[in-house]
Amino acid sequence: MIAPGKDEPVRVETIVVPDPGPGEAVVCIQACGVCHTDLHYGQGGISDDFPFLLGHEAAGVVESVGEGVTDVAPGDFVILNWRAVCGTCRACRRGRPWYCFDTHNARQRMTLAATGRELSPALGIGAFAEKTLVASGQCTKVDPSVSPAVAGLLGCGVMAGLGAAINTGNVGRGDSVAVIGCGGVGGAAIAGSHLAGAEKIIAVDIDDRKLATAKELGATHTVNSRESDPVEAIRELTGGFGSDVVIEAVGRPETYKQAFYARDLAGTVVLVGVPTPEMKLELPFLDVFARGGALKSSWYGDCLPSRDFPMLIDLHLQGRLPLDKFVTETIALDEIDKAFERMLYGDVLRSVVVL
Ligand code: APR
Ligand code: ZN
Ligand code: ZN
Repeated sequence: MIAPGKDEPVRVETIVVPDPGPGEAVVCIQACGVCHTDLHYGQGGISDDFPFLLGHEAAGVVESVGEGVTDVAPGDFVILNWRAVCGTCRACRRGRPWYCFDTHNARQRMTLAATGRELSPALGIGAFAEKTLVASGQCTKVDPSVSPAVAGLLGCGVMAGLGAAINTGNVGRGDSVAVIGCGGVGGAAIAGSHLAGAEKIIAVDIDDRKLATAKELGATHTVNSRESDPVEAIRELTGGFGSDVVIEAVGRPETYKQAFYARDLAGTVVLVGVPTPEMKLELPFLDVFARGGALKSSWYGDCLPSRDFPMLIDLHLQGRLPLDKFVTETIALDEIDKAFERMLYGDVLRSVVVL
């Protein structure tokens, strides 16, 4: 699925995928989730490097590998991630590869069959396609008995939410957690908090349909923030204190402020919603000082694909993590434009393209 130019409709086209070069792999995509970032690419909000090959929450089977590739082999079932980290930069050496600044993604050598024009794969992946070319370091092997539609979710939004709770928020047994915004990302933060043993999980959204799903994912309480003040409601539900961890999964200044005031003194706020460049945040400086605690942001759930993907898939297969609940619908490649609409206005956690 190609985004040919700024605000132009997306369309299906024939592409040419070259043989993998050194350190690269060609992966036959089996499933790929539809994410806001794909829409932003199509609208020119991320880069002007059109045409884009969209799709980046994907799982599939390695078809072929290039010279020197030893970590994956043809036939392996893999989840793709945005970046093959270098392993040697300062961030990698300090154990924070999600901040790696020397990523080794595949060179962008896929082209449009009709014109020979080079494609820019979304987030270095481009997985709304029967096959794509990636760096082998973007492939993580997981248990092949899981459904591809479920596995692909860990490639982006659902991993971001799970990781915001488990990795960034460090949610622990007995904690109280509030999650503001219960789409795919916030829903995953709820599921992650439940998995981590949180005792109280308060889901906040403006849409009752999302709150109903949040309950299925492990929320113990729900608050519709159109009907009542979420900060008051969260305080009331936590004996007047606020939650130990509050996860903001909308990406707006007003919901961030709610998160800031809904946490207990010395609690943690995790920002996983992504703000736009023009947004500004204003907080009384004294409150930032006096309320203490930690204000964190979560980058791709601060995940380590090689550690987190296989573990989370295993937990799902053991029945301890209901990842299947995030697959609201499976669709065909040519239905993506309609899925974008449902993503914005519908009751969808994830639409997943199955190939
Ligand atoms: N208060 C509470 N909830 C809100 C508000 C608000 N003011 N505004 C929107 N929401 C809810 C929506 O009703 C929806 O359920 O936030 C949810 C957002 O979910 P999605 O649109 O499905 O987005 P999602 O994929 O979950 O991503 C959320 O995280 O990674 C980022 O870029 C992503 O910024 C986005 C955010
Ligand atoms: Zn690095
Ligand atoms: Zn995404």
